[in-house]
Amino acid sequence: APIMILNGPNLNLLGRRQPEIYGTDTLADIEALCERTARTHGATCDARQSNHEGRLIDWIHEARESHAGIVINPAAYSHTSVALLDALNVCDGMPVIEVHISNIHQREEFRHHSYVSHRADGVIAGCGVQGYAFAVERVVALVKAAGE
Ligand code: DQA
Repeated sequence: APIMILNGPNLNLLGRRQPEIYGTDTLADIEALCERTARTHGATCDARQSNHEGRLIDWIHEARESHAGIVINPAAYSHTSVALLDALNVCDGMPVIEVHISNIHQREEFRHHSYVSHRADGVIAGCGVQGYAFAVERVVALVKAAGE
């Protein structure tokens, strides 16, 4: 089963959006990095992005049925969405890794808390887009460990 890569609001603008914070790589670059990383480990990815909270929730429900794990950058919804947390909490036993390109703990106070972190098996922040590669590798490792 593929690993679902979910990116939240405004991440479709990566590359042009505050490059001093988020760098110059685009969302397409990130999705290609995830696919390359997964393939190295014999896995595949299913990458999606939405600016809509409800659509992200529908995709989490889908992942629950048909995916090996979830890598999610909930973007601003990290800091606001109990609904995203609740959706992830229904994904019992499925690896969930949360990614933030920037180091949210170094930024404004309102970015320091993430609802999604209450469920995430791991959180990667401040590693730039490389964090997505780490997250994919971690999902692969957790899936492998669960099968042993
Ligand atoms: C982000 C950090 C969030 O605070 C912000 O709202 C984003 C991106 C990151 O990847 O660093 O949109 O999740």
